[in-house]
Amino acid sequence: MAKKLFIQTHGCQMNEYDSSRMADLLGESHEMELTDNADEADVLLLNTCSIREKAQDKVYHQLGRWKKLKQKNPNLVIGVGGCVASQEGDAIRKRAKHVDMIFGPQTLHKLPDMVNAAGKHIPITDVTFPEIEKFDHLPAPRVEGSEAFVSIMEGCSKYCTFCVVPYTRGEEVSRPFDSILVEVAQLAEQGVREIHLLGQNVNAYRGETAEGDEADLADIIHAVAQMDGVERIRFTTSHPVEFTDSLIEAFRTEPKLVSHLHLPVQSGADKILSAMKRGHDRQYYIDKINRIKEARPGISLSSDFIIGFPGETNEDFIDTMNLIQEIGFDHSFSFVYSQRPGTPASNLEDDTPDDVKKERLSILQRRISQQAYDISLAMVGDVQRILVSGYSPRDPGQLQGRTENNRIVNFRAFDPQLIGKFADVVITDAYPNSLLGELVSSELDTDFVLQ
Ligand code: SAH
Ligand code: F3S
Repeated sequence: MAKKLFIQTHGCQMNEYDSSRMADLLGESHEMELTDNADEADVLLLNTCSIREKAQDKVYHQLGRWKKLKQKNPNLVIGVGGCVASQEGDAIRKRAKHVDMIFGPQTLHKLPDMVNAAGKHIPITDVTFPEIEKFDHLPAPRVEGSEAFVSIMEGCSKYCTFCVVPYTRGEEVSRPFDSILVEVAQLAEQGVREIHLLGQNVNAYRGETAEGDEADLADIIHAVAQMDGVERIRFTTSHPVEFTDSLIEAFRTEPKLVSHLHLPVQSGADKILSAMKRGHDRQYYIDKINRIKEARPGISLSSDFIIGFPGETNEDFIDTMNLIQEIGFDHSFSFVYSQRPGTPASNLEDDTPDDVKKERLSILQRRISQQAYDISLAMVGDVQRILVSGYSPRDPGQLQGRTENNRIVNFRAFDPQLIGKFADVVITDAYPNSLLGELVSSELDTDFVLQ
């Protein structure tokens, strides 16, 4: 009987991508099958996140639960990967002796060997950064569904003062251009229609082509847009300073690039942006956004915000709130600053009380939710194109799909052949987390025009 693999993933989309590649890898090397029941698994993998303190705390809780499973089944193999493994592999080894394998974001391709060693009860720790060799060792991806992530680069060299990513995932390394296109082609052959290009600092991508030329993110977008079957392209996460003219132009000339952009700003106050070492001020961000809006009118914009960075005053917070209103951000991510060991900001004096930070966060989140809901309400009456992903979990008489600006639309339809296809729906109602629509036409109709 095939061995069973259970993977729990914390954190960002890059971790989700890495987890899916771990499944591909062990599927190929050990014929393992994924299970969503940890109790029946032969191998348990935890793909960890250390971006904020709370994310990190989850690791030892989970390992504590898995210890009981290992007591019942001594042959159970337990592995810990991701950013916590990378940052404190030795501490995990000491605190959780039942863990067999500790690997980092850039050594996950060694999992088949590690599983073999674990079978002989040889514990392994490898959290090195061996120059992107990972992608040379991964098998062809296997996907279900019509959307897929593709990682195009690893790491980040920006060293924002609050952030652990450069330490846990290493400095930026770009994948070769052609290796990315091969992966996209393999996904398109399996029916993928929407490609989501990933990197911690994705628009810093500078990869080599087979001819030895340098390609940037815009080049990848144009090449991916040429692939048969691919109709939608997204990318995250980009950095304002790396937002080149070629990328702005791609929004003007490439209709397959969605009208949505996640461009983190973190704060609207110049003093805080400078203390974070973001490399730009408030006006620079506004100017970039204005140029992007000019290239793609109506584009939906989202951001990440950090509230309560050391030294943030009420005036600084108001600057952030004003920026939110000025840009008109859609659904975004916001977090209270979390001190991360080893980062430059961890040495800064932080005298803002926790309850003040929490209060600011909730004011900001309410404003963003209101803006996002207003955007949803304004969509009522519009015809929106969605990529149909499956049945609505709440109502099997409804199908659902996502708009370009990342909203789920539920609509009544009975033809399962619509799944994986594009459809036009007229929006009839807006709720805080979804929209309701009615089918107008779809790819199943012969006169449906894709772009
Ligand atoms: N480029 C990355 C961004 C890093 S992590 C990406 O692909 O998403 C995502 C977000 O986490 C950041 O944009 C930032 O808003 C938040 N974050 C990072 N470090 C943090 C910290 N120490 N405390 C609170 N939030 C943090
Ligand atoms: Fe982190 Fe800044 Fe890079 S937020 S991932 S160091 S761009």
